[in-house]
Amino acid sequence: MDFKPSDIVTALPGNFFHSINERIAYYRGQGVDVIDMASGNPDRPTPQPIVEALKEAADKRENQGYTPFHGKAETRRAVAAFYKREYGVELDPETEVAIFSGSAIGIVGIPQALLSPGDVLLTADPAYPAYAAAAQLARAQFYAIPVRERDGYLPDYRTVPDEVAKRTRLLVLNYPNNPTGAIATPEFFERSVAFAAEHAFPVLHDFAYGAFGFDGHKPPSLLQTPRGKEYGVETYTASKTYNMAGWRFGFAVGNASVIGAFKHFHAQAYSTVFGAVQDAAVSAMLGSQEAVKELGRLYEARRDLLVAELRRIGWNVRPPGGSFFAWFRVPEGYSSASFADALLERAHVAVAPGEGFGASGSDYVRVNLLNDETRIKEAAERIAASGVLRT
Ligand SMILES: Cc1ncc(COP(=O)(O)O)c(C=O)c1O
Repeated sequence: MDFKPSDIVTALPGNFFHSINERIAYYRGQGVDVIDMASGNPDRPTPQPIVEALKEAADKRENQGYTPFHGKAETRRAVAAFYKREYGVELDPETEVAIFSGSAIGIVGIPQALLSPGDVLLTADPAYPAYAAAAQLARAQFYAIPVRERDGYLPDYRTVPDEVAKRTRLLVLNYPNNPTGAIATPEFFERSVAFAAEHAFPVLHDFAYGAFGFDGHKPPSLLQTPRGKEYGVETYTASKTYNMAGWRFGFAVGNASVIGAFKHFHAQAYSTVFGAVQDAAVSAMLGSQEAVKELGRLYEARRDLLVAELRRIGWNVRPPGGSFFAWFRVPEGYSSASFADALLERAHVAVAPGEGFGASGSDYVRVNLLNDETRIKEAAERIAASGVLRT
């Protein structure tokens, strides 16, 4: 017997990353050595002291039962201490911090906690695909502001139609950005908060790549902006900063009314977060940050190499300012999909077609910085030898 899924599940698009992974798996299944520059799964291991902290925490009796619904008190205090140390932002661990299993839960859950049918979730085009899915799950409408290379991929709020702005109940931003690698300026965050204040909606800033700014840039937190905490919440994740993607630890901080609504939703939808993972995340956030700095330097060195190699073979790409992704315009004569296909078929290099992130991505591909230097050089060699750049 086959049962029909709900209307909302039927309407959800397929997971974009899943289909890329399937294509890579298909080629690898045929014995082809694919260089995966498409995925967002960090290639470096979790730093060993964090692994040791997890092992120790797994033995603790208190971590074998349910943990408190809203996260352990020590975890919430550690998040507040982390924000104070990194961004100088004061947080009340009781009312301004929510803990969950990976930031995807916050990104998809906060819209569901705030939006009702007919409300608009506003974001940028291109954007991380989960924002559109979040709007759909909340039965809300989705409006994405096309961003342009010449504006540093930052949305210009003056282009948002009045009737959209009036119905907007949540603005979702993400800097350093996936997919564009763009970084936000404090002035841009000020404009975002002013726009939110004008129309009385909150801003959700997805700060997944907060640890990775290049050329000496430390990505700012939205909460550092004047009135940032009045209008903003920010999600953060251990997945990228501490290479803990499989562990599932994330949190949201900021405006107490949004955090409160989300905690209410979360306690019903997701229950609790494994205590040992919380303890390990606390040790990550409060311990030495040397491994994070080293990781940032590694991604920057890879970025420099990738850009230099691709320029050398005749693809004139522009370097990203942060995150671990680069956003490259495809050569003349290709669309994002046809170029990604050509790279996969003829060079066995997988990249993510930009159109998967929105219509404005149709001339771009997203390339990760998650391969070591030898593989980056090999990718460039293969691309040159395949002839795909000679259209
Ligand atoms: C922009 C962005 N936000 C959120 C996430 C989700 O991360 P996690 O659920 O592992 O915290 C990702 C993962 O790739 C991402 O790229």
